[in-house]
Amino acid sequence: MKDDNSPDREIYLHGHHPVVVDEHARRSADRNAAYLLPHLKLGMSMLDIGCGPGSITAGLAEAVSPGQTIGIDMSDKALDRARADAEVAGLSNVEYRVADAYDLPFPDDSFDAAHMHQVLQHLADPRKAVGEAMRVLKPGGVFGVTEVDWDTAVFWPRTPETNRFLDIYDEVALHNGADPDFGRRLRSMFEPLGVSCLEISALAWTFGDAASAEQWGDLWRERIQKSNIATVALEVGISTREELATVGEGLHRWGQSPDAFFSITHTEALAWK
Ligand SMILES: C[S@@+](CC[C@H](N)C(=O)[O-])C[C@H]1O[C@@H](n2cnc3c(N)ncnc32)[C@H](O)[C@@H]1O
Repeated sequence: MKDDNSPDREIYLHGHHPVVVDEHARRSADRNAAYLLPHLKLGMSMLDIGCGPGSITAGLAEAVSPGQTIGIDMSDKALDRARADAEVAGLSNVEYRVADAYDLPFPDDSFDAAHMHQVLQHLADPRKAVGEAMRVLKPGGVFGVTEVDWDTAVFWPRTPETNRFLDIYDEVALHNGADPDFGRRLRSMFEPLGVSCLEISALAWTFGDAASAEQWGDLWRERIQKSNIATVALEVGISTREELATVGEGLHRWGQSPDAFFSITHTEALAWK
């Protein structure tokens, strides 16, 4: 876990390699924002901050339609995917803009609801981004945030490669100024803001059948060898190309095990302004 003395550098850990964007684009509001959906009503205005390829945003937009949804992200590349998918789906109440979570281009009290999924863990000043989200919410508006806690990740069978994968992930994340265990800090983000109501829950992602374990193992084989994690691990000497190849093949073999199981906890916060 990152401590208060961690450096302030902030480079988005995962980058936007197609293998990363494709995986993010498999997420959905039904699976990844189920805790927020009951609080959304038709006609609400919605902001999704750090929306990436927009697959969760699309489900949120459907939940508030005909209310307007805006998805923002610092990466136009990810937003291009979001725009293309929205067009194919015929979603007319969603718009995607490049913007910075630290400096949202909206006046105070603009939205009925806001959402952030897996963004704060990558930010050097997450409190500032939470403050920005609350600023643009209308009084009484609801903000839903989800963050992962990689220290809760468990693999079975546990192998030298699955162990080394978790260590490499941690080291690269910390090097980039991210906090891979951010989920446990989510409640603390709201402490100084004096929100009118705060509810915290948790969701475990589980991969415990043949198809999902194989998909998870192969996804991380690709990511540990080809995405920004690999680039950083090699650049700063956290790993070598040979080791990343070994770890990747180990993750693939793990996904083929008849008893493969992986789970990881995500913390969810609902805050009302
Ligand atoms: C892990 S992805 C999550 C994407 C999406 N919310 C999802 O869960 O599928 C994190 C996203 O945050 C974006 N991001 C990182 N820092 C940002 C910032 N300061 N302002 C806006 N977006 C940011 C990245 O470009 C990336 O698309």
